[in-house]
Amino acid sequence: MTRAGAGHGSALLVLERSALLGGISEEPDRLTRRFATEALAHAGEVVAVWLREAGMSVRRDNAGNVVGRYDADRTGRRTLIVGSHLDSVRDAGRFDGPLGVLVGIAAVERLHARGQRLPFAVEVIGFADEEGVRFGTAYLGSKVVAGRFDMDYLRLTDEDGVTMADAIREAGGIPESLAADAWSGSGALGYCEVHIEQGPLLEAEGLPVGVVSTIAGQSRLRVTLSGEAGHAGTVPMELRRDALTGAAELVLAAESTARDEPGLVATVGELAVSPGAGNVVPGRVTLSLDVRHGDDTVRERACARLREQAEAIAAGRGLESEWRALQETPAVPTSLELSGLLERAVEELGLPVRRLTSGAGHDAVIMADLAPIAMLFVRCAGGISHNPAESVTEDDVAVAIDVLSRILELLAEVES
Ligand code: HGY
Ligand code: MN
Ligand code: MN
Repeated sequence: MTRAGAGHGSALLVLERSALLGGISEEPDRLTRRFATEALAHAGEVVAVWLREAGMSVRRDNAGNVVGRYDADRTGRRTLIVGSHLDSVRDAGRFDGPLGVLVGIAAVERLHARGQRLPFAVEVIGFADEEGVRFGTAYLGSKVVAGRFDMDYLRLTDEDGVTMADAIREAGGIPESLAADAWSGSGALGYCEVHIEQGPLLEAEGLPVGVVSTIAGQSRLRVTLSGEAGHAGTVPMELRRDALTGAAELVLAAESTARDEPGLVATVGELAVSPGAGNVVPGRVTLSLDVRHGDDTVRERACARLREQAEAIAAGRGLESEWRALQETPAVPTSLELSGLLERAVEELGLPVRRLTSGAGHDAVIMADLAPIAMLFVRCAGGISHNPAESVTEDDVAVAIDVLSRILELLAEVES
């Protein structure tokens, strides 16, 4: 693969820009960029500059999504939407999300450099919240664009008690106007997202890219176990109602339930202990529970089983249990037609087509309500993600830009 310089539309420039965005964080020593924070707004401003340089008009909506538009050869044409998210998890890698935005910009930069207009417009979107770290519900940015934002979300509070409505206002948005930010262009012909695989398969098979067939469904739950706080030195073991030991039993039950079901994953990523002092028997524990599978019936059955186990563990330890489903997102297949074009673009680059399921959720899940979706996965080292060690190679990024550029050409044949 020829290594283009760091010119516009090049893989090297994508890597340089990823590094720059990777330094825009809420925290000094690691990358954390949550919804409606100053760091996210800053990243959006930087991306807006690159969108403009690529010949796009730019707007920012009330959720903080940044949207670049590269007009078609004439008005009245449909629009291909390309993008991914600019928010991150805590202590994140710098490619989960931004890679899809930057590869989208690179493909438009190539058009702009040639002064080429297509028989459709291209919009590149940097979504403001895919991870859902700040308020527990994911896809806030793409839900606004797809017209699926639930105004009840505005009452959700973050760990500091700040409501989503206040956070949006502080970030310069008008919560009451979010519904008006739903995409209303002249026909979305598709949504295409480039994203790191976040898994080991492409690397194991020596492939730079893969085509996503299905995005797994996910359940994001919150479980609270309540017992009785007490003195660590005076309450005998047999008289305790220790919420944390109950939670520990549930964490291991989640692991064994997932191990027993092929393709099922269950994760407890957050666990809050109250009152949280070393010499106090924990009175209350709240834990997150993330359950996923490519088949929704398997996932729903597993969640029902885990809820029964939580209730049985609580009953056996004299605890109360509270089970809340924060978000249930069904598995979403990609469009056969648009993915077929993506596969053709991969083949025309002389690469084998590898279809794979995405265990991770993506904005494409929500954008599927607006348009046919397709996703291109890019190999990442060791399959590592949600970790600062996340990395991609310049050659693989170059392949991704070439594939996206080629699908624009294939779509132009279809649309003209
Ligand atoms: O959690 C996920 O699936 C994605 O990284 N938001
Ligand atoms: Mn992502
Ligand atoms: Mn992620």
